[in-house]
Amino acid sequence: MTKEQVLSLLLQAKQPLSGEQMSRTLGVSRAAVWKAIGSLRLEGYTIEAATRRGYRLTACPSAPDALRIAQLLSGHPWCTHVRVLEQTDSTNNEIKRLAAAGAPEGTCVVALRQTAGRGRRGRSFLSPEGGLYMSVLLRPALRPEVLMPLTAMTAVAAMRAVEQASGLRPGIKWTNDLVVGRRKLCGILTELSIEAESQAVDYVVIGIGINCSPTQFPPELAEHVTDLQTQTGRATDRSLLAAKLLTGLYELEQALPEGKDAWLRVFSENCVTLGQAVSVVRGDQVRHGHADGIDENAALRVRYDDGSCETVSSGEVSVRGMYGYV
Ligand code: BTN
Repeated sequence: MTKEQVLSLLLQAKQPLSGEQMSRTLGVSRAAVWKAIGSLRLEGYTIEAATRRGYRLTACPSAPDALRIAQLLSGHPWCTHVRVLEQTDSTNNEIKRLAAAGAPEGTCVVALRQTAGRGRRGRSFLSPEGGLYMSVLLRPALRPEVLMPLTAMTAVAAMRAVEQASGLRPGIKWTNDLVVGRRKLCGILTELSIEAESQAVDYVVIGIGINCSPTQFPPELAEHVTDLQTQTGRATDRSLLAAKLLTGLYELEQALPEGKDAWLRVFSENCVTLGQAVSVVRGDQVRHGHADGIDENAALRVRYDDGSCETVSSGEVSVRGMYGYV
């Protein structure tokens, strides 16, 4: 526990932190802080110690590793369900194959790269080595309509995980991108399988892709994306990020359906789309307005320039000033 707390202090510190400062903040002995720093170094964190100035975290172990994720999740109900693959077509596809073979809830696939990563609306999601591509299987015993806010809640879980693992708190672009300033850091693709006869939920796949290090994106994308290393100045421990995502998704699952309002409040507080000029695109039709808020299912309330209002749960919403929309 102390180790995680020391790591969290170091991740958030803008300046070197002394052992004494950390022991006071955490209410533990200096020896406990020193031991935690030793364990973190053994795990691959580079922590520089400058005389009289204190400790500074300069590098983290980076690539996701199955053993390390299991270790970080030790004792968690889903700790034995994680697989790390060098490469796959899409971790969402991989989870669907495992779900069809009867895999349990909490099954998680992380890939170092994807050859056919998928985004929303049939788009592809570029997935070179250096990012985190992860999908998780849920089997909620709930009606499909109760799962409407799931994607928005996933954005909250992802935002928290990014902050815990990197020290950077991104914003949420409705409904499910994480952004830093005007640039996209993370995309989420939620897929639902429903039994045709009973209309009951068979399973849900939650797929999350996070840009972790600088990548050569095609020119049309390059100015609209960012990554954790560029933003924080150091590599993020992708095993820690994966573990935090998984524990966040577990909490999300436990929160459904009663606890969703608290999650949606956090969503609203961090949603950069709210209060902004937006355009809603449906086929050939484009309407301009303002994003006023979200409803109980995380649908976006838009007030159009002609005074009319609409709640948008599908269709493409662009925020002025983001991703090239001016
Ligand atoms: C989007 O931005 O449109 C959603 C992107 C979702 C990408 C993730 S990466 C892990 C998982 N596997 C996929 O093929 N897609 C999701």
